Amino acid sequence: MTTLLRQLKPAFRIESVFTTSNGVNITWKDSHQSFYHNLWLLDSCRCSSCFQRDTLSLNQGHDLLKMPLNPTPQEVKINREGNLDIVWGGEQTGHHSVFDASWLRVHCQKDPALKQRKKPQLWDASVSIPYFDYDQVMTDDGVFLSYLNKLVELGVAVIENAPNNEPSFRALVERVGPLRQRYHPTNVFTMDRKNALAQTIQHSYQLGRLRNHTDVTAYDIPTGIQYLQCTLYDNPDNDRQAYSTVVDGFKLAEVIKQENPYFFELLTTEYIPAGRRRLCVEEKLADTDTSARKYEWDAYRRNHLINLDENGDVYQVRYNHNTRIPLEVDFDKIEDLLAAYRRFSQLLQDPQYVAEFLLTPGQVLVVNNWRVLHGRTGIWGNSLQRSLLGTYLEEETFRCRRRILLGDKTGMSNLWLMGCSDRALEILADRYLENSSN
Ligand SMILES: [Fe+2]
Repeated sequence: MTTLLRQLKPAFRIESVFTTSNGVNITWKDSHQSFYHNLWLLDSCRCSSCFQRDTLSLNQGHDLLKMPLNPTPQEVKINREGNLDIVWGGEQTGHHSVFDASWLRVHCQKDPALKQRKKPQLWDASVSIPYFDYDQVMTDDGVFLSYLNKLVELGVAVIENAPNNEPSFRALVERVGPLRQRYHPTNVFTMDRKNALAQTIQHSYQLGRLRNHTDVTAYDIPTGIQYLQCTLYDNPDNDRQAYSTVVDGFKLAEVIKQENPYFFELLTTEYIPAGRRRLCVEEKLADTDTSARKYEWDAYRRNHLINLDENGDVYQVRYNHNTRIPLEVDFDKIEDLLAAYRRFSQLLQDPQYVAEFLLTPGQVLVVNNWRVLHGRTGIWGNSLQRSLLGTYLEEETFRCRRRILLGDKTGMSNLWLMGCSDRALEILADRYLENSSN
């Protein structure tokens, strides 16, 4: 039986190296050129003296105070595995560094795209929301990663054919990682309009329309991913009550940026403060149970509606009409700021941008709460029966799981996976030529 070895794409194979006075130039087989400064290479060394292989962190041997600021290599070559091999000279004589070629390529300092997040696919009401099968997501890592990737590309997905019970719902979410702790005794909540107690503290349980919004805007770090599973939808009126709605907040940010750059500037630099004061929980507790005090919640935060990263790209949108509190703004700007905010609110209701669909029992709506605003059409009749299970994941939990799955796909060792950016892992996960799998 012959085993075909997987072959790396040309971008990850070194064609040639030559040294300069302060570093190493690499020409790759796709003709791209990279330069690595000697000090950067020495500082990044992963030999066992510099880097602990078990904890995957810097070792005592990596002593910045003793590191020469102008290290010089004695010998630089491409080794038999195609990696960069450096034997250091001068004060570092005897020090030997080997750098994985693929790892070097995604650390090319001359490629600005590596420092940017993958461009999201912006969408409007015509979006095709991707659907995934519950069992496949639970058992197939490839499908699981595709679904997590869709949450990065579009910010929304639906899992279907989910068993109609809480343990299965919890298992779906915990496949990614631990649930986010809520300010409630339960981390998986049941949203049932019959819960009269909850109606007194949550808009989402009340009659009428639920405007599109992101959750927990009054937190420093809002929840990353929200899961909502429909367990019951019985509508004798057979109309469009309680249909789910989602809007791409990144798309709306782009629309505002194009039509009115000043509004965009205001929404990215001025604050829209949010507050939430809630001293009871939505679960019915026994009269003798005093644990509710633990969940008293009084949050306040000043944040922008549109938040930009260091490259000026939108990474987070926060908007909840219900938790907005009085503006803290120079009164010279209040008219413009409210006009900008109003424009965003208007776009949020524009049918051109709102995707509307019925979530039926066994379907789980998954949204990136840093990007996609969610809501529902109105409920006006008491005959409608609807029940949802809901829970949250931290954004960090989601990112960690996706990074691990991407890392698995690269086939690289932990030594080199550790500390790669998300963008680097996305690129490395695709480093092999197609049809060359073993
Ligand atoms: Fe919500």
